[in-house]
Amino acid sequence: MVRKIETSRVAVVTGGTRGIGASISALLHKFGYKVAATYMGNDKAAEAFREKTGIDAVYKFNVADYDACAEYIARIEKDLGPVDILVNNAGITRDAFLHKMTPQQWQEVIHTNLDSVFNLSRLVVEGMRQREFGRIISISSINGLSGQVGQTNYAAAKAGIVGFSKSLALEVASKGVTVNVIAPGYIDTDMVRAVDATILEKIVAKIPVKKLGSADSIARLVAFLADDDNVFITGATFNINGGQYMA
Ligand code: CAA
Ligand code: NAP
Repeated sequence: MVRKIETSRVAVVTGGTRGIGASISALLHKFGYKVAATYMGNDKAAEAFREKTGIDAVYKFNVADYDACAEYIARIEKDLGPVDILVNNAGITRDAFLHKMTPQQWQEVIHTNLDSVFNLSRLVVEGMRQREFGRIISISSINGLSGQVGQTNYAAAKAGIVGFSKSLALEVASKGVTVNVIAPGYIDTDMVRAVDATILEKIVAKIPVKKLGSADSIARLVAFLADDDNVFITGATFNINGGQYMA
């Protein structure tokens, strides 16, 4: 059980206004963190999120664009203070068998799902090192570990996050900064609802718990890892997948 803490720490959650990210933002906000939730273009969802959660620090920029990330991290730090917790959550799918995949489908997924993790982590890590505190938590996927038809692009990006995080964890371990990865299975969000219903039925039938996961289950682990007391868990990858893949 995650305890409710009093904290003035600042957390940035990318893709924090919808799906898994919205649950993460809401839970961290409930626990007293100053939360900045970012998104790409869905203004309607962002507005609904703001009204529902009372989180006003909502920022719209493309996580695949380094200069935009730099501009908005500076703005967030001016508005809320230095970033203590970074949750790299924003992501997309562009599924296709490799023999049909376009270079654009490949590049969009690598830029959004992997380059973004470099962009944001690079921009906050120096401050974290200097202040000797930081938490970088990135959302990978079961499919980055197990592989999935139609997802050579997505699985490459999600597996890349694991190698990136292990390496960064080593670099910052002595500086009070932990770096961890969560690899969710199929969670009930817009991303999964976009999968063809017949295919999704086949996927759910193979999940031992026989249902999709909830975004809240991912948020609870993020809150646990973000906690000040979590000093010894680093370089780890956590599976939350209803038993679908036991790595
Ligand atoms: N699991 C099991 N079987 C699958 C499958 C999957 N995930 N994806 C495709 N198949 C099967 C299809 O059922 C089909 O089988 P039959 O030939 O027996 O009918 C076969 O593969 C070919 O599929 P399509 O006819 O759909 O081929 P297509 O070229 O039209 O489309 C595709 C290919 C775009 C990959 C499409 O099949 C698809 O969208 N599949 C889903 C892939 C998937 O699981 N994506 C996960 C999205 S959610 C996510 O990514 C979040 C996360 O991290 C978990
Ligand atoms: P989602 O419902 O589709 O939400 C995605 C969020 O990311 C949205 O807020 C979106 O902004 C934002 N985003 C997308 N591209 C962006 C960009 N270029 N710049 C900034 N923000 C961007 O997805 P989800 O299901 O919650 O998934 C969240 C993360 O978990 C992703 O990394 C995904 O790969 C991963 N994951 C999901 C599942 C699952 O089953 N759902 C499983 C494993 C891993 P807009 O609202 O403006 O579009």
